Amino acid sequence: MGIFSKKSQEPTLQTADRPVPQHIAIIMDGNGRWATRRGMPRYAGHAVGAETFRTIANYCKSIGVKYLTVYAFSTENWKRSQEEISAIMRLLGNYLREALQDMDKNRVRFVFFGDLSRLSDDLRELCELAQERSKTYEGVQVNFCLNYGGRDEILMAARSFARACMEGKANPEDLDAAQFSSCLYSAGVPDPELIIRPSGEIRTSNFLLWQSAYSEYVFTDVLWPDFTPEDLEKAIAEYNGRSRRFGGVKK
Ligand code: IPE
Ligand code: IPE
Ligand code: MG
Repeated sequence: MGIFSKKSQEPTLQTADRPVPQHIAIIMDGNGRWATRRGMPRYAGHAVGAETFRTIANYCKSIGVKYLTVYAFSTENWKRSQEEISAIMRLLGNYLREALQDMDKNRVRFVFFGDLSRLSDDLRELCELAQERSKTYEGVQVNFCLNYGGRDEILMAARSFARACMEGKANPEDLDAAQFSSCLYSAGVPDPELIIRPSGEIRTSNFLLWQSAYSEYVFTDVLWPDFTPEDLEKAIAEYNGRSRRFGGVKK
């Protein structure tokens, strides 16, 4: 069964009467606490969190979200125990194998943000295969942030721009925000209008540092394994109530 092949969650709420952000980003946080509170090992929380991801991705697809960016593993998450890291990587591998099986039916585009070179060969190949095989699909695009860090991404982009300058293909004086954006993992993807962080933490933890300049944040105490389409709808409603001014004055 594929990552999006579990019975698609039909929108149970009224969804047609409000604008939906075209790009939603989520920091999928709180798996460990969810498990610990139940006396379970942390990886059990990651397994349930993975189910939540399936449900929320299907739901986003059903309400017409064009881009869903999910923070799955940060450049700092390598500080965790080898046992926990292995469990997370195993879960990711399982998802991707399933997703590849059902790809033609689900038509979800997978893109990976992050330095995949630190992953095992098997997992990296699964990521590359999923990205390559889904690149022409027109459904929701899921940007999977894996070994991703906002600072790391900016450094990677700065290095690639510096290389282009040294090769005579770019000129430092011409660098502007649009050109720099095109050097990031998110090249071609509009900035997220809405970034959601469950779990009660009020910080970015190195997520989309460049792209979030004018994103609206919604923080909720719900732990990611408990996060439901209703919670997503609440976040969208909160977003729809915000006054976005981008530094200007509201007309
Ligand atoms: C998020 O949940 C998943 C990853 C960072 C991989 P956590 O594992 O951070 O859960 P908490 O924050 O410890 O509860
Ligand atoms: C952010 O959560 C990373 C992911 C959800 C993948 P963390 O749990 O790693 O962040 P901190 O440690 O609370 O800042
Ligand atoms: Mg956490």
